[in-house]
Amino acid sequence: MKAGISSIGIYIPPLYLSHDDLADARDIPRDKYKIGLGNINMAIVPPWDDPVTMAANAAKMAMEAAGVEKDEIGLLIVSTETGVDQSKPVSSFVHGLLGIGRRSRVYEIKHACYGGTVAIMNAVNWVRSQHHRGKKALVITTDIAKYGLNTAGEPTQGAGAVAFIISDETEFMHFLPSMNAFYSNDVHDFWRPNGYATPMVDGKYSIQCYLDALEFCSHDLQDNLMQETGKHLLDFVDYFIYHLPFTKMAKKAHTKMLATLRPELNEEQIAAIYEADYADKIQPALTGSQQVGNIYTGSVYMCLLSLLESKQEELENKNIGIFSYGSGCGAEFLISHVGRGLQQQLQKLNFRKQIDRRIKISMDEYAAIYGDKDQAAALQMGMELQDADPFSRFIFTGIKEHKRQYVKTGSH
Ligand code: HMG
Repeated sequence: MKAGISSIGIYIPPLYLSHDDLADARDIPRDKYKIGLGNINMAIVPPWDDPVTMAANAAKMAMEAAGVEKDEIGLLIVSTETGVDQSKPVSSFVHGLLGIGRRSRVYEIKHACYGGTVAIMNAVNWVRSQHHRGKKALVITTDIAKYGLNTAGEPTQGAGAVAFIISDETEFMHFLPSMNAFYSNDVHDFWRPNGYATPMVDGKYSIQCYLDALEFCSHDLQDNLMQETGKHLLDFVDYFIYHLPFTKMAKKAHTKMLATLRPELNEEQIAAIYEADYADKIQPALTGSQQVGNIYTGSVYMCLLSLLESKQEELENKNIGIFSYGSGCGAEFLISHVGRGLQQQLQKLNFRKQIDRRIKISMDEYAAIYGDKDQAAALQMGMELQDADPFSRFIFTGIKEHKRQYVKTGSH
């Protein structure tokens, strides 16, 4: 039974801050962000967007791209680590905004950035198990990566949502059953205690935890693949994409994976393979990370969208290795296959258009929005701005009696 992705939708907030402006304001050499981290711009969430509006906006685009009506959804899973309530899941708000029927299973999943992959795999298994009775699953990742002003994590912020329709009626992209590897370990590399708006992070250690997980999963995936197909992972997979908390992580991850699977090579030889792979295999997947930043649960899938928009039909019949990591920590290395139907999908992707429609904000505006100083004025500005934004169909309008309020907007 094939179960896979029928369509993908993405929503990126309409504002961004340039890393050059941030570096100048923090008195840090621009090259540290541009070359050291590999980042160029980061998405900033205006006060009229939140994890719910971003999720609903991305979902609407995924449903339209697949031609799926709200009554066809039988399972809705939202993965987020930026929940808006301790009890009520983001998925319930989205369920209401999209008008999805009551005969549906709707829940939220959390496991830091790994949660998106858990949600997708739950949906794939639901479809494979035949419990879906002809219905489709809607999976959404939605997050705001916010570390706080003047912190080491500040240049690695970002925000966005990615949504997927998962069904058994697709040839576009499916996951190869039994070809995945898992890893879990109880670590404090990045965490956000109850009541805190921003995370605690042991930055260098978190990178080490990520690379340990990747090394473990690379061995396991290689063993599984050898058993199933007799092939080596580096021959079987055409493109590798990685969870990217910042763009330079792609280099750290790819070289770690190569060094793990080619232990006979020395550091220089691995570096040479990375350089040779870069233009064709690595760089095409980096646009999202460079322009949007870390979107936590959706980060690795934003790499997938970047790769799709960049390589287009070249991806048909190709295998893509997806390494998903979430702090805490959990990781999974899986393989997806791009089949027929890619052409129709490509026409509906609008990721580049969303990046290009954004408005650049100044450091003062950034401090006002993320420093929570001038929310009311910013909300007012939002009413005018979002009306001109064809990608925003839902906005957050404030809290009344401890209940979050949302409205559908504009004519789009
Ligand atoms: P830092 O203190 O800025 O690090 O923190 P640094 O001083 O080592 O500099 C970073 C890089 O810039 C280094 O390169 C420097 O050499 C280079 P590297 O040695 O790593 O290759 N550099 C320069 N390059 C050019 N010109 C210069 C220059 N100066 C320095 N002038 C850190 C960096 C990423 C740790 C920090 O931003 C942070 O804590 N970020 C948040 C945590 C994070 O992103 N962790 C990643 C792994 S964990 C993960 O992915 C999970 C996560 O997504 C959360 C979840 O799962 O929910 C975060």
